[in-house]
Amino acid sequence: MTPRMVESSILGAMREKVSGLPSALALFDEPLARHCSMGIGGPADVLVIVDSLDALRRLLVLCAENQVRWILVGAGTNMLPSDDGFRGAVVKLSGDFNYVHVDGMDLVAGAGARLSALVESARAGGLSGLEFATGIPGCVGGSLPGNSGTASESLGDRVVDVELLSAGGDIGKLLPEDLGFTYRHSNLRKLGGVVTSARFRLAAGERSEIAAKVRMFAEQRKGQPLNLPNVGCIFKNPPGESAGRLIDEAGLKGAREGQIEISPTHANFMVNLGGGTAANVAELIDRVRESVKDRSGVELESEVLMLSETGQAT
Ligand code: EPU
Repeated sequence: MTPRMVESSILGAMREKVSGLPSALALFDEPLARHCSMGIGGPADVLVIVDSLDALRRLLVLCAENQVRWILVGAGTNMLPSDDGFRGAVVKLSGDFNYVHVDGMDLVAGAGARLSALVESARAGGLSGLEFATGIPGCVGGSLPGNSGTASESLGDRVVDVELLSAGGDIGKLLPEDLGFTYRHSNLRKLGGVVTSARFRLAAGERSEIAAKVRMFAEQRKGQPLNLPNVGCIFKNPPGESAGRLIDEAGLKGAREGQIEISPTHANFMVNLGGGTAANVAELIDRVRESVKDRSGVELESEVLMLSETGQAT
């Protein structure tokens, strides 16, 4: 039996149990391209859309009991699944996880809430501090592990605490000192488990000033190729530098591998022209890193989570 067949047979044995979970929708052999903003990724053995904490806990226990590996996908705007898909269960949060509410100077948001909903709730509540998240397409649970933000501000700057469900089913709160937020990094991937919600501390602000800042951040994104499937910036900015400028100066705008192109408008974006693959992206990433290293001596580091078919970061 091939590894794919072995994995599928384990999953076949728990097929009924997964399908029978309350507040959950199980999609077998689900193409991950449908759940990644770049339109890339082969089939997952099963993708489970979970609507409640209880269903999530039951699913994780089921996976543990049957030794089925699982990964979480958020809005799929900063990750690239393998062309071979994923052997195991892909978990996606919806329903009860999609909320944002104002609590004094804080915003409390479920893991499934879009950052755009946070920006809007903060504006409506006269709270300032998250305007920089304007136009970031992800959701809370998917954006916190990689500490999404701009070049100078990140979600982690505002976090009071993060609620995490461990793989064993225990719920706990983590504080900034546990989370180790730095530029496009946190300890969350290493810690494992599932982020279920987060609390952000903001400051009182004039609604008109907040709205003006939101417009300014939206304006800054105008040079980004958001009209084509992409996963945001591909590389982290090296300290004091701009990855986009370095790639541009290496003459790589418009370079292609298959149907994946380095955007002619912003060099730190790759766009899928239709039918591009994860392998194409990986080849183009290698090419960019080599060219930039040769030209400017800088080693670029990817900020996109690229996954193998067993969920390892590649
Ligand atoms: N530049 C070029 N050529 C290019 C692209 C950029 O010369 O092709 C130059 C620009 O002219 C500018 C400098 O590089 O002088 C910085 O470019 P930009 O203002 O576009 O910002 P960035 O550093 O490339 C960062 C974040 C973006 C975020 C914007 C918001 C990183 C890696 N990127 O981009 O975040 O939207 O600031 O201003 O920190 C993301 O992480 O996915 C992302 C999109």
